[in-house]
Amino acid sequence: MIITIDGPAAAGKGTLAAKLSAKYKYAYFDTGMVYRAVGLEMYLRNLDTADEKAALKIAETLTFEKMMELSAHPDFRSQIGGRNASIVSAYPDVRAALLKMQQDFSENPVFADGTPAQGAIYDGRDTGTVVCPEADIKLFITASSEVRAERRYKEFVAKGMDVAYEEVLADVKARDERDANRSAAPMKPAEDAVVFDTSTLNIEEVFAKACEIIDAEIDKEKR
Ligand code: DC
Repeated sequence: MIITIDGPAAAGKGTLAAKLSAKYKYAYFDTGMVYRAVGLEMYLRNLDTADEKAALKIAETLTFEKMMELSAHPDFRSQIGGRNASIVSAYPDVRAALLKMQQDFSENPVFADGTPAQGAIYDGRDTGTVVCPEADIKLFITASSEVRAERRYKEFVAKGMDVAYEEVLADVKARDERDANRSAAPMKPAEDAVVFDTSTLNIEEVFAKACEIIDAEIDKEKR
């Protein structure tokens, strides 16, 4: 079973994916990590994210293990990390270089400890359109930019980071603009995706609806 969850930053994709992964025991791949890893590696090596060739070189040599190692760095999930990821993810060649690593996971989904899983849940921007166009279930989770900025702001404050709400909102809007308008794999719902707006639905409601869809698919596969 392959499930994709796409949508803009802070829409609730990660929370939903974690709840579904716990309930159905499917492995989880947060695909934003591949772009965060490339962006962070550039930052650590003092490379300019405007240097597309340098970004490509790093993408071509990125391994799953290296990505996991970089994910422990404090800037992996910081504003800088998110901004750099968004910039490098707009380069078509970087996206192409990182595609196989993401697709391979669906052939052999495993949990963090290496145990094999019966299915995979992907979260990202293009997982239902480009990474796994043949996924069994595709969800697209969205929310207004103000609601999402408020959530991100609270996350940063909880981690003790010193940021202003206005700055987070401006960043969310800039990233949406880049993610939705880039030429390679722009963020958009797949034609066969079910769209949820978490400005009006809470996460429990979205979770319940997602479970209904997944249970129906499991029943269908059993028949
Ligand atoms: O989901 P995230 O915030 O960790 O993603 C970081 C950046 O990576 C985001 O700005 C867009 C990009 N991204 C992408 O282009 N395609 C994906 N499948 C996942 C993330």
